[in-house]
Amino acid sequence: MDLELSDTQALVQKTARDFASRVVAPQAAEIDEREKFPREILRGLADLGLMAINVPQELGGSGAGVVSAALALQEIARACASTAVMMSVTNMVGEAIARFGTDAQKQRHCPRLAGGEYATGSFALSEPDAGSDPGGMRTTARRDGGEWVIDGAKQWITGGSYAGVYIVWARTAGPETGARGISCFLVEGGANGLKVGRPEDKMGIRGSDTVPLEFDGVRVPAEALLGQENGGFKIAMMALDGGRIGISSQAIGIARAALAESVEYAKERKTFGVPIAQHQAIQWKLADMHTQIEAAHLLSMRAAALKEADQPFSREASISKLFASEMAVRVANEAVQIHGGYGYTREFAAERHLRDARVTMIYEGTSEIQRLVIARTVLS
Ligand code: CAA
Repeated sequence: MDLELSDTQALVQKTARDFASRVVAPQAAEIDEREKFPREILRGLADLGLMAINVPQELGGSGAGVVSAALALQEIARACASTAVMMSVTNMVGEAIARFGTDAQKQRHCPRLAGGEYATGSFALSEPDAGSDPGGMRTTARRDGGEWVIDGAKQWITGGSYAGVYIVWARTAGPETGARGISCFLVEGGANGLKVGRPEDKMGIRGSDTVPLEFDGVRVPAEALLGQENGGFKIAMMALDGGRIGISSQAIGIARAALAESVEYAKERKTFGVPIAQHQAIQWKLADMHTQIEAAHLLSMRAAALKEADQPFSREASISKLFASEMAVRVANEAVQIHGGYGYTREFAAERHLRDARVTMIYEGTSEIQRLVIARTVLS
């Protein structure tokens, strides 16, 4: 595996880093405090080609690959984790449509996701009673002439208030068929019968829109089916394998911010007559934080490189997501500790990083689900 970045990867990383420090970072505290949906920032990301990084250029994407996408997400997450998760999910939705869609579906949605005409794309898989086990979903889609009629409820939908397109999973065969009786559909924002609920009041990523959705007889044409009838579960799994690299990147970005701010603080803050950076207790914390971030980065690069090379990468994505998300929580927690009492206040970003990091152990597959995926491969 080549650890040198290609010219394209380095350019995407630099583009994201510049935009993150110039535009995103200065707004991050306000986005969190006011739970502000960062519409203009998402538009700016689209203008830079960062909302469809691994979508082919002929569909409006950047065609810059999986490693580039991971690097860009790290940079944006370092500035604002709320923005990063919507960027990650929108990239995942664009990639899934580009990979599994018909020509008409690709032409309709990919350029709009890439170009920012759609603020977000949403991934509507989870339900109030089916998160870790999407095979147990209850939302249904039944054929009615040339249409599908969708009824049910979805939960925890990132960007769901603003999505131009939702990928919606629904049962198209009886509940006894489990994961093998699920199909997915492209539903456009504002569809009749689609009700967007009140945004969740969350611990972290408070600028990221997270909503429940209700489908009350939502009608979509037969051509809205994405992939094969009853083949939707595998599309979800394949998309999530890639999405998990995105969440790893988000976690790494958060941890990098927590470390950088801890270093800065440790050089300024004095105890016992010297900056706390001179105390071995703090140096060891900083060394451990740095080491863990580097390890998470290498795991995520391995998963991204495998995906980019069209090699199996499901296990590596789970390993990367498991390690990076738990690492980010540890690192952000240490950042609070290094900041002492100030770290527990809103005066410093350390507390935001800890709140933001926590969700990475939950969404796109909890740590327990990642362990399940990894254990299956260890035991096989
Ligand atoms: N790639 C391709 N196919 C896969 C696959 C993968 N990674 N994983 C499973 N499959 C296939 C299996 O081969 C099997 O195919 P056959 O029918 O041909 O045999 C089929 O899918 C069913 O697989 P399993 O029997 O393994 O399914 P399961 O019910 O045991 O579930 C699971 C496996 C890994 C636990 C899965 O349910 C899972 O990943 N759960 C977590 C769901 C999740 O991550 N949700 C996140 C919500 S989205 C989100 O958070 C987005 C956001 O907004 C931030």
